[in-house]
Amino acid sequence: MELTPQIKDKLDKLQEKYTAMGQDMSAYLDGLLYADFLTYWDYIHLDTLLSLQHPKTSFPDEEIFIMYHQITELYFKLSLHELKQIAEHEQLTVKFMTDRVKRINAYFTALVSSFEVMVDGMEKEQFLKFRMSLLPASGFQSGQYRMIEISATDFGRLIEKSKREELANATIEEQFEHIYWKSGATELSSGKQTLTLKQFINKYAAQFLQLVKDRQHTNLSALYHRLEAEGQDVSALAEELRKLDLFVNVEWPLSHYKSAVRYLEKDPVDIAATGGTNWQKYLPPRFQKRIFYPFLWTGEQMEEWGKGWVLSVLKTLRNEG
Ligand code: HEM
Repeated sequence: MELTPQIKDKLDKLQEKYTAMGQDMSAYLDGLLYADFLTYWDYIHLDTLLSLQHPKTSFPDEEIFIMYHQITELYFKLSLHELKQIAEHEQLTVKFMTDRVKRINAYFTALVSSFEVMVDGMEKEQFLKFRMSLLPASGFQSGQYRMIEISATDFGRLIEKSKREELANATIEEQFEHIYWKSGATELSSGKQTLTLKQFINKYAAQFLQLVKDRQHTNLSALYHRLEAEGQDVSALAEELRKLDLFVNVEWPLSHYKSAVRYLEKDPVDIAATGGTNWQKYLPPRFQKRIFYPFLWTGEQMEEWGKGWVLSVLKTLRNEG
C-alpha cells in the first residue's frame, strides 16, 4: 500500500505525541496490530447491563418493575451528567446552560411519557404480591433523584415549608435535618422515622451534604442569578428552567402518583406503601408545593401549583376504574 502524504503526516503527528510522553511509537503500533476490533456489545457492556435483573419472586411482572426503575435511574444519571457539566463549566454562558437544561428537559419528557409502562404495564394482582418481598425498599430511596434536586435549586428551597424561614441562615447540617422528604417518611401509626428513611440517610447523608456544599454557588438557581446579574439576556434560559420546574416538581411526581393510585388505592382503606409513608398526603405535588424557581412564577401560579393537574388525573383514573 502506498504511504500517502496524509498517512505520513499522521505518523509524524503520532510520533510527536509518543515522543512527548517518552513512549516508543512502534511498540504502540504493535499493540494496534494485535488488538481486537471493538464490538457493539463490548463497548456498551451489554452482557453486564442485561444481567442486572434479579427478581425476588417468580412473578413475571416483577422484572418489568425492576427494569423500569433501572431505566429511570439511567435517565437520572443523564440529568446529573448535564448538571455537573453546567456547575463545573469554567466560563459558563447563557447558551451553554440553556442547551444543557434543554437536554434535561428532554430526559424528563421521556420519563413522564414512559411512566405508562408502570401505570398500565403490570398486573395489579402480581404487583400486590411481589411488592411484599421488597419491604422496606422503596423508590423513595433513589439517591439520584435527591441529587438532581440539590443541583437544581438553592438548598433553602428543599427545607420543609414550616421551617424554611426560621432556618434561612442556619448551617447546611441544621437545614438538612429538616429537608422536606424526611417529614414525608414517617410511620403511619407511630410518627417515627421509617426504616426506609433510616437506611437511606445512613447510606447517603454524607454524600448529600457534600453535594449541597459543592453546589452552594453552582446550583441552577444560583447560576441563573449570576448570569442575569452580568446583564445577559436570560429569557430563553428562564423558559427552560420553568419547564424543568414543572417536570421535576409536578409532571413526573404526578405520573408517579398515578402509579401509586392505580396499585395502592383501594376503598375504603388504602394499601400501605412499601416505604410506609402516608403516601396520599405526601406524594401529590399540590401538597408538597416543591418549587425550584419561585422568582420565575407569579404568586397565583404558585398558589395553584399542581392543583388542576392532580384533580384531572384522579378523575380520569376513577372513570377508567
Ligand atoms: C407501581 C409503581 C410504583 C408505585 C406503586 C410507587 C409507590 C411509591 C410510594 C407509595 C412512595 C412513597 C414512599 C413510600 O412509602 O414508599 C414512592 C416514593 C417514591 N418513588 Fe415510587 N412507586 C412506583 C414506581 C416508581 C418508579 C418507577 C420510580 C423510579 C425511580 C419511583 C421513585 C420514587 C421516588 C423518587 C419516590 C420519592 C418521591 C418523593 O419524595 O416525593 N417509584 N413511590
